[in-house]
Amino acid sequence: MISFLVKIFFLLLIIPYDITESQCLFYEVHIFNNLPRNSPQLQLHCASGDDDFGHQYPGVRKDYSWSFCENWFPKTLYFCHFWWGFKEQAFEVFNNSNNCIDGGDKYVPDETTKCVWQIQKDGIYLGYVNSTGQLHLTKYAEWLGN
Ligand SMILES: *[C@@H]1O[C@H](CO)[C@@H](O)[C@H](O)[C@H]1NC(C)=O
Ligand SMILES: *[C@@H]1O[C@H](CO)[C@@H](O)[C@H](O)[C@H]1NC(C)=O
Repeated sequence: MISFLVKIFFLLLIIPYDITESQCLFYEVHIFNNLPRNSPQLQLHCASGDDDFGHQYPGVRKDYSWSFCENWFPKTLYFCHFWWGFKEQAFEVFNNSNNCIDGGDKYVPDETTKCVWQIQKDGIYLGYVNSTGQLHLTKYAEWLGN
């Protein structure tokens, strides 16, 4: 009788864990610094409701990325502020589990789980890596400021 209750107890511990794990999909957000060398240092501050990644300073040609798991009730939202010299920009870099951001279907295909932001001299690009490994970028935002 006791071992039966013990088994039930462990099943109850395991079952909810299995359900959440199997129904969640992994996403990656990448921020790639493709600014010119010998130009001001890129500064980022990205956060969600739960996580604040603090200020980050990825070097030129360096990728800053994170991953997370989204269940069948998507709610994850990541916001980033970018600074480059006197220029800046800020927006939500992830808020849509199908196309990275709302309206992102103009930049990435449906069911994109790896969202690639590339920071360039002429603005910030959003893209994806296709099934043969090629990066496809489209300009998303101009820098603000001068
Ligand atoms: C999601 O993010 C995009 C890009 O930052 C933004 O245009 C859109 O308004 C956001 N959606 C919501 C519901 O805030
Ligand atoms: C990936 O992109 C490259 C470059 O645009 C293209 O040549 C290739 O056909 C694409 N692969 C697929 C599977 O669409």
